[in-house]
Amino acid sequence: MDFKLTEEHLMIQQAARDFAQNELLPGVIERDEKQIFPAEQIKKMGELGFLGMMVDPKYGGSGLDTMSYVIAMEEISKVDASASVVMSVNNSLVCWGLETFGTEEQKQKYLTRLASGEIIGAFCLSEPEAGSDATSQKTTAIDKGDHYLLNGTKNWITNGSTADVYLVIAQTDIEKRHRGINALIVEKGMPGFEIGAKEQKLGIRGSDTHSLMFTDVKVPKENRIGEDGFGFKFAMKTLAGGRIGIASQALGIASGAYELALKYSQERKAFGTEICNHQAIAFKLADMAVQIEAARHLCMKAAWDKDNHNNYDLSGAMAKLYASQVAMDTTIEAVQIHGGNGYVKEYHVERFMRDAKITQIYEGTSEIQKIVISRSILTK
Ligand code: CAA
Ligand code: FAD
Repeated sequence: MDFKLTEEHLMIQQAARDFAQNELLPGVIERDEKQIFPAEQIKKMGELGFLGMMVDPKYGGSGLDTMSYVIAMEEISKVDASASVVMSVNNSLVCWGLETFGTEEQKQKYLTRLASGEIIGAFCLSEPEAGSDATSQKTTAIDKGDHYLLNGTKNWITNGSTADVYLVIAQTDIEKRHRGINALIVEKGMPGFEIGAKEQKLGIRGSDTHSLMFTDVKVPKENRIGEDGFGFKFAMKTLAGGRIGIASQALGIASGAYELALKYSQERKAFGTEICNHQAIAFKLADMAVQIEAARHLCMKAAWDKDNHNNYDLSGAMAKLYASQVAMDTTIEAVQIHGGNGYVKEYHVERFMRDAKITQIYEGTSEIQKIVISRSILTK
């Protein structure tokens, strides 16, 4: 076992750190306040290879491992979790799903542009009545011979208006339940495809979240991913890796808040000394440091499992469950350590606290992670 990062990993970490400091930090408060999508920054992330990190270079990706992805996700999320959710969805849900299960034609047509960041993608599973209970799909994709006729509504879709390519999960044969679900590639602009209003959110306010409406959208058969009826398995397998991305987002939010709290506690004085010299504050920092280190190990273990072709359903769910709790706990304490300054925007930690919450909700709530974990340990 080797706990040392390789030279390549260290270079990626530095590149992501520099990008976050130089390109994402300026304007992050304003983008959060006004719900501005970081369009220019996302474009640059594509140019630097952060949007298709694990994709084979022959499809325009960076050809890196999952460990590199976790390292970069942590660094980007330490500054701007709105940018990192775009990165996570594009890398681990859209690109990974297409590269692993798509046809050569689909890869040539869509993956190459997605991996290079020329366009971005969205992953559309959730519906008004199918969130955690994801097999209860109401969106239908009726087989019409050479195409599917798509009807229904998707909710909460990240990159909802900024994406060009949407992976949409829909029910084709209700009799077959989850085995009658398909995953289809839908393009922006297909007739009958409408994008709803932007959601007004608590956190990750720079990311754009929309509902999507499909009315008799004709999706060519060649846009189906995998065999007929593979859609639900596609979603589950893709989300297993996605959860590693969100776990590392949570890790980054926690470590970003911790670093600010540590620095502040060494500068701010009360009762004649820096507040870090008060044991109550020092112990908070100690708890934060331990929890962040443990979360990082879980994220890296899940990445290692994926890179070594082990099953990562369990380790990914554990990483997401734990890291998202650490993000919540750490950011609340970071606000506390900042006192009144923690409650105002310019010190960043209130944003981290608001951003942390979503990591316990999307890509499977914490309760759903416990279902995945308990089922896995009980069937061993
Ligand atoms: N890999 C492969 N197949 C899997 C699987 C996995 N990890 N997990 C489940 N399956 C398969 C099962 O084998 C089963 O298929 P068979 O019957 O053919 O064997 C099928 O899926 C149904 O599985 P379950 O019976 O376990 O289904 P369930 O109804 O009990 O639900 C669940 C399982 C884990 C709770 C699932 O519904 C789930 O993950 N829900 C949460 C949904 C979610 O994470 N949504 C995220 C949306 S994307 C997002 O949020 C992006 C973002 O914000 C940025
Ligand atoms: P529900 O499923 O209604 O859950 C409500 C509560 O009940 C939760 O606490 C839940 O844990 C609990 N619960 C439900 N079932 C059980 C059970 N069996 N046991 C114990 N507790 C249970 N979805 C996408 O498809 N693509 C996206 O890009 C995307 N981006 C998102 C971005 C944002 C900002 C948000 C808020 C959501 C996004 N989602 C996306 C949707 C997200 O994945 C769902 O919100 C999430 O899966 C929960 O579903 P729900 O909101 O319907 O809650």
